[in-house]
Amino acid sequence: MARVRTWTWWLAAGAGVAAVWWLTGRREEGDRLPLKDGRVVRMREVRPEDKPLFVRALRTARDQTVYHRFGTVKRRFSAEELRYLTELDGSNHYAIGATIRSAGAVRGVAVARFVRDPRDPSQAEAAVAVADDFQGVGLGRTLFMHLALAARSRGIARLVCPVLATNRASLALMRRLDPEAAFEPDGAWVLATLDLARVL
Ligand SMILES: CC(C)(COP(=O)(O)OP(=O)(O)OC[C@H]1O[C@@H](n2cnc3c(N)ncnc32)[C@H](O)[C@@H]1OP(=O)(O)O)[C@@H](O)C(=O)NCCC(=O)NCCS
Repeated sequence: MARVRTWTWWLAAGAGVAAVWWLTGRREEGDRLPLKDGRVVRMREVRPEDKPLFVRALRTARDQTVYHRFGTVKRRFSAEELRYLTELDGSNHYAIGATIRSAGAVRGVAVARFVRDPRDPSQAEAAVAVADDFQGVGLGRTLFMHLALAARSRGIARLVCPVLATNRASLALMRRLDPEAAFEPDGAWVLATLDLARVL
């Protein structure tokens, strides 16, 4: 009898571990993406339950990274901004992100998005941001390529990326993606227009 009870306990414990593994594992679903430095992230479309990943990413990013992405240094998104960033229609507003499991939790380490121009549906505004400790290992470029693929399959021909004129890394990334990209000065910003026929 004691033996049966022991087995029952182990079965219950095993089922519990499997349930936790399944539940937490699901949250990190996505395609495996190996980086240049050997780390592997998961890549998938952004979804509404990703809000906590955005909150943490903004809280922990370097000032310069936040400034380069948003043109201002802020540490919190409003509820409305979080909704805007994560509740997407997948056609006119699309975003793809990269996550990694770290210290038992899933962490968002990069995101690339486009928002279609309502005046010219063949064009969209795009942006990409990579966490500081994941920059320089090919993540921004790879994510942008996947964004470009998603954009093309939705009938978009050009991505316009507003980049601060002082943001050398991002300007270099744009040239790397499309060597013939057009750069149009717009105050402190430069509008980089990438032709998807050349990017892909
Ligand atoms: C710009 C940014 C997205 C680049 O992402 P990343 O993952 O670090 O870049 P990658 O490792 O994929 O590099 C791709 C190319 O970008 C260029 N690049 C990236 N970092 C660079 C740097 N520090 N200096 C010069 N060129 C750089 C290179 O051409 C590189 O190609 P290579 O590796 O073949 O030489 C990232 O630095 C970032 O998130 N910055 C803060 C937010 C931001 O500026 N967003 C852009 C607004 S649209």
